[in-house]
Amino acid sequence: MMNENEELKRICEAVIERIRPNDTERRRIKAVIDRIIAKINGKALEMGIEAHAISVGSTARNTWVRGEADIDIFIMFPVDLSEEDLKEKGLALAKSVSDSYEERYASHPYIHAYFYDAEGGTEYEADLVPCFSVKEASLLKSAVDRTPFHNEYVVERIPGFEDEVLLLKQFMKCLGIYGSEQRRKGFAGYLCELLILHYSSFAELLRNASRWQYGERIDLEGHGTYKGAGKDPLIVIDPVDPNRNVAAAVSEYSFCRLIDAARDFLVQPSMNFFLPRKEEPMSEAEFMNLVKERGTEFVMVVFEAPDEVEDVLFPQLRKAETSVKNLIERNGFEVYGSDVCVEGDKAFLLFELLVWTLPRIKKHVGPPVTSEHHSEQFKVKYAANKHKPKDLFIENGRYVVEVERNYTDVVSLLKNELKSCSLGKHVAESISVDNGYEVFRNEEIRISEGEGLGYFFREYFRGI
Ligand code: UTP
Ligand code: MN
Ligand code: MN
Repeated sequence: MMNENEELKRICEAVIERIRPNDTERRRIKAVIDRIIAKINGKALEMGIEAHAISVGSTARNTWVRGEADIDIFIMFPVDLSEEDLKEKGLALAKSVSDSYEERYASHPYIHAYFYDAEGGTEYEADLVPCFSVKEASLLKSAVDRTPFHNEYVVERIPGFEDEVLLLKQFMKCLGIYGSEQRRKGFAGYLCELLILHYSSFAELLRNASRWQYGERIDLEGHGTYKGAGKDPLIVIDPVDPNRNVAAAVSEYSFCRLIDAARDFLVQPSMNFFLPRKEEPMSEAEFMNLVKERGTEFVMVVFEAPDEVEDVLFPQLRKAETSVKNLIERNGFEVYGSDVCVEGDKAFLLFELLVWTLPRIKKHVGPPVTSEHHSEQFKVKYAANKHKPKDLFIENGRYVVEVERNYTDVVSLLKNELKSCSLGKHVAESISVDNGYEVFRNEEIRISEGEGLGYFFREYFRGI
């Protein structure tokens, strides 16, 4: 029988064969990159713009997963240019070379371009990002100025380790923790490359990750000055900027998910860790069955998604989720689970409730009877809105008054009080218009309208 190490090696080799780009794909991508760079540099000359293009990201390092090439081109501008000029000239230059494009904003404006290759007319997508050519990564002027330094660092060191990076990326993609976007809060491509450079192989990374503790610190150059606020689960000092944590976007969930999967995979290596889950969207009937089985109540708040990029929108939706959850619980109901979703132009806040209706009355506990001064005040205050004398009790040495609840049903609470929550500027604006939001419960939640909601619910009910 094969021992586990051999089994692990056999699986990794089989996976590599599947996800490593073949020579044709590599050649094609390189040709497209060279063509885009030549075009940009030529156009810059023509337009009298002092700038040049460089290839960065996974397509510059041979670390992209087969069939998933996204070309990253940075356009370097002199550092003494103003931010406005960078944006204006950078975007104009990028647009002028693209077959078609979309203007996008991360923390920084850039062009997402579409290109057609010389022979086949196959479509390639590329991010064309203007940046400042700063002297050192720590002297960055715009959010993306470190990238060329990252690229230089990785390009020099990664040869020979590309396959290990591919394994790690595919492993993380299948766990749903690849990518540093706010929606995911996982591991970025650059972070995967640094982890491999540090541990030297995918298997060795997993062996270490299976024993990671909170605050795990990795410092490839041994020069880190980054302290953090003690809340990062993982700290990977940026080799090109000692005061930055490359893993700052990694959430506790992503950190723990990797630890857990690393242990499972090492105990029982399997190809399944590298196969994307294929799942059907949840159907209306399936959802209603689950609701009945669980005996909980589902309540969904729906409104127009604020017109913001995902990285801005998601933190706001998370903030709104927390505020609404607090509102619900302040009113005596009990939340069991919650999540947020964006589908088309709508945003959704979902709450699953253990307690969603309550009796009309509730107890309001007053001061100890022995505390004469407070007792006096309490009785005066409650005498005013007290209708029957028997509403006032003494229980365990304290005054207790029976009062009427403002809301006995969570839906009416949300319909009336949602606007009083601190929802974040954009969400608040979106729901503040007339009929700005709707509240649905159980069967009113039309999960089959738009497949996205079906997938969202599938994921909501799924464990790891
Ligand atoms: P990517 O997100 O494309 O990652 O950013 P990657 O390393 O190439 O990995 P995959 O294989 O595509 O998933 C490429 C580089 O460009 C920078 C990133 O920081 C990264 O170093 N970048 C890209 C920005 O800083 N801002 C942008 O808007 C786009
Ligand atoms: Mn990329
Ligand atoms: Mn990209």
